[in-house]
Amino acid sequence: MTEQSLLLIKPDAVKKNHVGHIITITEQHGFTLKNIKVLQFDRKSAAEFYMMHEGKEFYEQLLDFMCSGTTVALHLERVDAVAKLLELVGDTDPEKRSPNTIRAMFADGVTKNAVHASDSPLSAKRELGLIFKGAF
Ligand code: CMP
Repeated sequence: MTEQSLLLIKPDAVKKNHVGHIITITEQHGFTLKNIKVLQFDRKSAAEFYMMHEGKEFYEQLLDFMCSGTTVALHLERVDAVAKLLELVGDTDPEKRSPNTIRAMFADGVTKNAVHASDSPLSAKRELGLIFKGAF
């Protein structure tokens, strides 16, 4: 079934000029770009986006990182978009990343991990709404 998902190209990858390359990879894997937004997270918007991680030991570090520079958000579409994008992005844990994933190619570590992808169709709906219909 055709689905929607969200990919955030995070500040580390934007600073290193990987935006074009990452968009090309998504296109080569059958995703259609439906919308794109260049944005700057502040503490309030980053806290809202990552509310499910509040209280975790990495939470403050994650908010600092997401506010540290420009983010590029992509609204992507394809059949099974959520699962296929998670597969293409690769695991959060550097030890578990397959070689051809976006994180294996561009991530520096666990927090500075180049990209975020929605983890379920429900998350995709929420996150696409926040980024493209909210006040981010
Ligand atoms: P993301 O897919 O954006 O979802 C939550 C983010 O929190 C994750 O990518 C990482 O950037 C960060 N993160 C998750 N787990 C850890 C961890 N154990 N230590 C530090 N940062 C983490």
